[in-house]
Amino acid sequence: MKVHETLPIVPIARGEGAWLVDFEGNRYLDAVSSWWVNLFGHSDVRIKDAIRAQLDDLPHAMLAGFTHRPVVELSERLHALTGLGHAFYGSDGASATEIALKMSFHYWRNRGYADKRSFVSLAGGYHGETMGALAVTDVAIFRDVYAPLLASNVCMPSPIDGVDAAAAALDAHLAQHHATTAALIVEPLVQGAAGMRMYDPRYLALAREITARHGVHLVVDEIMTGFGRTGSMFAWEQSGAPRPDLMCLSKGITGGHLPLSCVLASDDVYGAFYDDDVTRGFLHSHSYTGNPLACAAAVAVLDIFRDDDVIARNRARAAEWASALRTVAAHERVRDFRQCGMIFAWEVASDRPDFARWCFAQALAGGVLLRPIGNTVYVMPPYIVTGEEMTHVAACVKDVLDRA
Ligand SMILES: Cc1ncc(COP(=O)(O)O)c(C=O)c1O
Repeated sequence: MKVHETLPIVPIARGEGAWLVDFEGNRYLDAVSSWWVNLFGHSDVRIKDAIRAQLDDLPHAMLAGFTHRPVVELSERLHALTGLGHAFYGSDGASATEIALKMSFHYWRNRGYADKRSFVSLAGGYHGETMGALAVTDVAIFRDVYAPLLASNVCMPSPIDGVDAAAAALDAHLAQHHATTAALIVEPLVQGAAGMRMYDPRYLALAREITARHGVHLVVDEIMTGFGRTGSMFAWEQSGAPRPDLMCLSKGITGGHLPLSCVLASDDVYGAFYDDDVTRGFLHSHSYTGNPLACAAAVAVLDIFRDDDVIARNRARAAEWASALRTVAAHERVRDFRQCGMIFAWEVASDRPDFARWCFAQALAGGVLLRPIGNTVYVMPPYIVTGEEMTHVAACVKDVLDRA
């Protein structure tokens, strides 16, 4: 909070497409999709209409013992897209991680393997900041203070530093510890919070094979990568591998209009809880689980993907964005310029100790919302951003880099 003595908080009055507008009429192009949630711009008409219509019918009803149209439709459509036929709803990404970890542990307990209670995650992984999620997160700034409170899990090498070495390390660890390991959790293709670190999909196929061979669940955290961010509807598709056991979704699921998360599970996972004994059921409850307004927004998002053929259109848009960002890629201060679908990132050679904050403030003054992670700058805007708007981003970034 003290930072804001010199860097005032920006009160936002409204959102217009890819732009946020403050009370003085200043406009900021949201090049980070407001923490990666916004897919089709702020205040999308189709999503808003779906929420309004749902508001007239049913704003909320508890999901225990009841159901409603939007949650059924959303679950069926997510099943059709992923092949995972059982959905459990939460409200934020972190709650999805908690659900997936608890579900994996409880699955093994129900199947007679109560010792399987450890989780394996990857160096640089990020899965949220509640206690269970933080225990599988490896980003020091969020984790270190709370480390004494966290369950001890195992952090394995990331494929960023070599796919085969990371897979071999995983295989060796699980060969020895499969009897005490419930699941491996990974961010597919891009480790976001660690600095948009991108890796080869081959690792995912190897991880699927290795976890299956050792009887360990694979949890794929698509919270950031899902809904088209990496170029396919879900990053997992690019692995060509059989389905994961559990998949976590959030962020883009409602296009950034309402909070919602979802954990999709395989028939096998679901089957382990189907029992007369209530203690063998998955007793995890959130008051707003499956909220009808949020589910209606999510159904509207899936309609937009279908009606506008978003994934195909994004291919052209990504090429347009890449071309607009060529001046950035070629800048003398830029290292390791990289792209994965609709995500662009690069390192900036700058000795400024406060580079991230400085860059944020400079870009904002130039009408662009950026949120660097250390010296990593990335752009990941709503898909509706035009080539012209991306040229505006590139010009602003170049101007900031010239002074970095
Ligand atoms: C991969 C991943 N998992 C989980 C989360 C946590 O989501 P939330 O901030 O909604 O709790 C995030 C958030 O950035 C994320 O990127």
